[in-house]
Amino acid sequence: MSDPVVLVLSGPNLNLLGWREPSVYGTDTLDDHVGRATEAGRRVGVVVEHLQSNHEGELIEAVHRARGNADALIVNAGALTHTSWSLHDALAAFDGVVIELHLSNPAGREPFRHTSVIAPVANGVIAGFGGLGYELAVEAAKRLLDENRPLDENKENQR
Ligand code: DQA
Repeated sequence: MSDPVVLVLSGPNLNLLGWREPSVYGTDTLDDHVGRATEAGRRVGVVVEHLQSNHEGELIEAVHRARGNADALIVNAGALTHTSWSLHDALAAFDGVVIELHLSNPAGREPFRHTSVIAPVANGVIAGFGGLGYELAVEAAKRLLDENRPLDENKENQR
């Protein structure tokens, strides 16, 4: 059997990592983080794929395409985390594991970051661990896949 596929989705402004607000997000680039995720994937036996977009619709279409093509999604949606009910709905229709990921800890930041509209349709959230979060998210995805805990249709009623 081939290794499960974990798709990492990176939202708006994450292409600027390394340069953007380094005191909050550190100096590693998105490529560094994805490299770490890919390495963690090799270690635990999953194939890591990645897509970054600054466009909500592109992220939503990536979630649609992931249906049947990926076993788990790791989603750092940037500020769309706090606003995008469309992304929420797309993730609700994805029938695999969903992990919400943030470099920073939004709960300790400005009030507008305290709400995640994605969290209700995620298996769990990893936040505040900086670059380590990417590895943790890949490991968590693998563990959940091993435990055979895919999301099913009526996710919000399950958690
Ligand atoms: C972020 C947190 C969000 O609030 C913010 O808009 C981002 C990055 C993080 O990784 O810490 O763009 O998702």
